[in-house]
Amino acid sequence: MNQDEIRQWLQEVQHPAQGDQSLVALGMVDKIACADGSVRVTLAFPKRPDPLKNYLIGAVQACLYRHLPGGTDIQVDSIVKDPAKAAPKGIQFNLEQLREVRYIVGIASGKGGVGKSTVAVNLAVALSRLGYRVGLADADVYGPSIPTMTGTEDAVIEMYGEDENDNLFVPVEKYGVKWLSVGHVSGAGQALIWRGPMASTALKQIILQTLWGPLDFLLIDMPPGTGDIHISLLGDVPMSGAVIVTTPQEVALADVLRGANMFRNPQVNKPIYGLVENMSWFTPEAHPEEKYYLFGKDGGAQMARNLDIPLLGQIPLVQGIREGADNGEPIALGSRPDALAFLELARKLAEAV
Ligand SMILES: Nc1ncnc2c1ncn2[C@@H]1O[C@H](COP(=O)(O)OP(=O)(O)O)[C@@H](O)[C@H]1O
Ligand SMILES: [Mg+2]
Repeated sequence: MNQDEIRQWLQEVQHPAQGDQSLVALGMVDKIACADGSVRVTLAFPKRPDPLKNYLIGAVQACLYRHLPGGTDIQVDSIVKDPAKAAPKGIQFNLEQLREVRYIVGIASGKGGVGKSTVAVNLAVALSRLGYRVGLADADVYGPSIPTMTGTEDAVIEMYGEDENDNLFVPVEKYGVKWLSVGHVSGAGQALIWRGPMASTALKQIILQTLWGPLDFLLIDMPPGTGDIHISLLGDVPMSGAVIVTTPQEVALADVLRGANMFRNPQVNKPIYGLVENMSWFTPEAHPEEKYYLFGKDGGAQMARNLDIPLLGQIPLVQGIREGADNGEPIALGSRPDALAFLELARKLAEAV
């Protein structure tokens, strides 16, 4: 036996709280030493205590017992190592897969629940209906909703390529759009517990390790907020610019400012193509001519003026949009007035870009 062989075996040991990635892929196998009749493996754990530490040490021991001849002296110990240094090995991100993508547009919002994903999905469908080649990467590691909204929860993601460390995700094609979500790759429930460097690696994989092919637009459904994960994303993915989604409410608008500042920060410095005001008014199904301004009137338009960016569109709060999202059939596929609102939005974005 040699180190490579042992490393190979250790691929079997997965971290249940890290998307079931193997300890090897997570860079947690720090050292392997083997001599006649004895093997010693050192695992690297980040500073923050890992509640599964003992479990994982045991799992590594068990794995070695399974593979090694009886009587081998097996030792597994651990060290504490800065998580940055324990970043997954074997993932060398490059921009090769984005070479044929013309515009990469981040769909962002200061806070969750404003309809960012709803807008992203319908915008993708609408752009495709206008004849553009479109992909959407769901980078919302904390709440990936694209699989549900597109009815692709059960899609099996195929891999392209021979080399295990180097193969690519093949996005799911439906409604004329290429979709890929952290949820497709990991199962929606699991994504919610991803944290820190792990989460930002996962979402970079969704964007950079995917066979997008030639696209006019790659939309990125970004996680809500303006944290580390965004900085990391903006640092590694060459975005062309962003669209910001908000509701007209004042509390949402304060977050919009923070979102906009993130893109305008001198180190990032990306154009904001415009603002989409979602849930601008409520229109009951039975009374399509009525408008109720539940969250205040024109807050988004005002904010767009203040920020000196175009208001790309106002999307009403209507039952059909919510139903479309829940049923996996985006409303922008149809011909109702709400679908046309998204087509108009798509046209404006294409113009702005
Ligand atoms: N214009 C709208 N009309 C009706 N329901 C909407 C609208 N926009 C979003 N929703 C609903 O609101 C909820 C949150 O939207 P979502 O797109 O998931 O928000 P976010 O991605 O910002 O967290 C979803 O249930 C969605 O169907
Ligand atoms: Mg969302």
